[in-house]
Amino acid sequence: MSSLLNTYARKNISFKKGKGCYLFTKSGDKYLDFVQGIAVNVLGHCNKSLVKAIKIQSEKLWHVSNAFIIPEQEKLAKKITDNTFADFVCFQNSGTEATEASIKIARKYFHSIGKPEKNTIITFKGAFHGRTLAALFAANNPKHIEGFGPKVEGFHQVPFADHETLKKSINKNTAAIMIETIMGEGGIKVVPDFCLKGLKELCDENNLLLILDEVQSGIGRTGNFFAFEKSGITPDIVPIAKGIGGGFPLGAVLLSKKVSKGMTPGSHGTTFGGNPLAMSVGNAVLDIIFKKGFLKQVSKKGNYFDKHLHKLQKKYPQIIEEVRGIGLIKGLKLLVNNSKFMEKLMKNKMLTVKAEENVIRLFPPLTINNNEIDEAIKKLDKTCKDMI
Ligand SMILES: Cc1ncc(COP(=O)(O)O)c(C=O)c1O
Repeated sequence: MSSLLNTYARKNISFKKGKGCYLFTKSGDKYLDFVQGIAVNVLGHCNKSLVKAIKIQSEKLWHVSNAFIIPEQEKLAKKITDNTFADFVCFQNSGTEATEASIKIARKYFHSIGKPEKNTIITFKGAFHGRTLAALFAANNPKHIEGFGPKVEGFHQVPFADHETLKKSINKNTAAIMIETIMGEGGIKVVPDFCLKGLKELCDENNLLLILDEVQSGIGRTGNFFAFEKSGITPDIVPIAKGIGGGFPLGAVLLSKKVSKGMTPGSHGTTFGGNPLAMSVGNAVLDIIFKKGFLKQVSKKGNYFDKHLHKLQKKYPQIIEEVRGIGLIKGLKLLVNNSKFMEKLMKNKMLTVKAEENVIRLFPPLTINNNEIDEAIKKLDKTCKDMI
């Protein structure tokens, strides 16, 4: 019997090492890994630059308290603010902490401008914002909240893509709208640019903040640093995590100067968030992501992948209902059971992760090449054939 608390239905497999797109078991079996720690390892397994960065930092300094200035933190924050909408960055350790901090920042902003009654956040059915209590009740997924009451107040949930209900639900207590730019766990549902623009207008008209959760969709996965960038809108608060650490636990909240108003010394804190070891990896990740031409390559590879996924859909219309996603965050909505498909795919030595709406998610590292994409398509093709 395992000593681990039984909170995961784990697959009966473990890995000894990883390299780029691949994972290797102890017995030498090689798997094409399109889970990548669930959209975490943006540069693949054991990227050379990240290994070097962490080695160097591990011999200098691992951890000091946020009570002191951490130069690596200043450096990473500046890199982020220089390249995004954000004026400030607040480092965390995970996505759920980043969404919790975003909720706190939104509420504190209205408190600081003398409108403490504006403390409710509108969220969307099918959302996922993490597993801490506020994040759980923000998303309000019946499967996740059962038994964890009492309910955390301050959230109002509306159906996805129902603009009229959304508009009607805004009242004097509404502080913000919080949405994933691409709903990940919900089934790789992309919020179209016109909807993002509409949400921004709605926020402006009603003096609300717009929180875009880019924990899963951010850090270059769509071919832009953020999935919302193409729409041309500017959000107020953006929680990030996953890709920013390239496999090292790291999260952050990005925010505008306006909403930073209430966040004064003592208003928020974390023991580990932004420690030198984490920052060394974050800096190394962004040095690669922000290299000239890197994101263009992600777009190109995304288009190549998309074209071949659509070909597969045409070839197997009885298996694949829909190809979803942008760039290298893709989903296949299946007409056969997604768990069964993933099992067969795993037999064909490829790993994926499931989502709601009978979707399988595909998260190749952003460093993948076209030959490796071809290999993935072949394995998916064979699996479709096996499922008929
Ligand atoms: C959109 C989104 N927000 C928040 C989270 C929570 O992140 P973490 O698991 O790092 O706490 C996730 C995790 O999958 C996510 O996809």
